[in-house]
Amino acid sequence: MAMAATRVPFLSSTNATTPFQCHKYSLPSTVSSSSLRLLPSPSSCSSLLSLSSSFATRRSHKGVKGRVGISVVAMADSSKRTVIVTGAGGRTGQIVYKKLKERPNEYVARGLVRTEESKQKIGGADDVFVGDIRDADSIVPAIQGVDALIILTSAVPQMKPGFDPTKGQRPEFYFEDGAYPEQVDWIGQKNQIDAAKAAGVKQVVLVGSMGGTDLNHPLNSLGNGNILVWKRKAEQYLADSGIPYTIIRAGGLQDKEGGLRELLVGKDDELLKTETRTIARPDVAEVCIQALNFEEAQFKAFDLASKPEGAGSPTKDFKALFSQITTRF
Ligand SMILES: NC(=O)c1ccc[n+]([C@@H]2O[C@H](COP(=O)([O-])OP(=O)(O)OC[C@H]3O[C@@H](n4cnc5c(N)ncnc54)[C@H](OP(=O)(O)O)[C@@H]3O)[C@@H](O)[C@H]2O)c1
Repeated sequence: MAMAATRVPFLSSTNATTPFQCHKYSLPSTVSSSSLRLLPSPSSCSSLLSLSSSFATRRSHKGVKGRVGISVVAMADSSKRTVIVTGAGGRTGQIVYKKLKERPNEYVARGLVRTEESKQKIGGADDVFVGDIRDADSIVPAIQGVDALIILTSAVPQMKPGFDPTKGQRPEFYFEDGAYPEQVDWIGQKNQIDAAKAAGVKQVVLVGSMGGTDLNHPLNSLGNGNILVWKRKAEQYLADSGIPYTIIRAGGLQDKEGGLRELLVGKDDELLKTETRTIARPDVAEVCIQALNFEEAQFKAFDLASKPEGAGSPTKDFKALFSQITTRF
């Protein structure tokens, strides 16, 4: 009989600690926190800078559009950036896709989903491609011709059936065969980054998770998937790729209204030690899109959370937000 599965919030935690064991895939115990850190080499920096300036040139065309009339309409159209969001059927991915579609003067939106069913769920438009990030060839058509890629795919732990909180039980989790973090968060993200590089994509925004500095974080033992380890490895691969990048390590995601809170950026999981370690999904989605608009967001990796609603002022100035970040990884 097929096992009934329940999707669970990613930051659910258990106290189990069984690091570096997967059901089918074992992670070498030699992985250390130092091997998970990196800084782009000076040689890659120079190529990054030239790519970033070409992106900035396009943005300046958009500025012309607001001031001049008919003769620059064609130029304005060519300045629209084609942006694809992967995991577009996911809870944050579909918000990004919707926001891109709502800004047709700025972006030509595309989505990548895993199934036809997910495609229909987000409207079934022709700009939604179906592909599996674990199969490199299947995502090439979607990424061809895009200016920017926003990665919102993730392995999703499933809750084993039979959990009864009234009996004081702890929920147990598993990943489906072939959908472990190693395949989705490492191989799948790597395939996307490789495809982006081959297609000349000018910026990649990758959403990851806070907690990655702690190899013994309880999330790593969830389903024996080492999810934060594999996510971090993909982040490292992106930072080494030579493509201008923005790595957003979100706190606990909440399905709340966006635009109402003051956003907080941090580094090295410092925010996890505070009371402010959650963020609304629409706010993460907005930061993903705003990261495309400011050079201050490029070559940066940062933690992201928000103050509670009513504390502080809702963030409107994203250039200032990105300017606070000093960390490249
Ligand atoms: N939940 C949290 O509290 C939390 C906290 C911090 C960070 N994050 C991170 O934030 C990001 C967004 O989270 P979310 O909860 O909004 O995501 P989500 O709803 O779990 O969506 C994940 C998406 O990835 C897609 N996907 C999985 N395997 C795929 C494959 N092989 N090929 C193509 N697509 C595939 C899924 O497609 P299907 O719909 O077809 O399954 C789904 O749409 C994730 O990286 C997550 O790890 C989450």
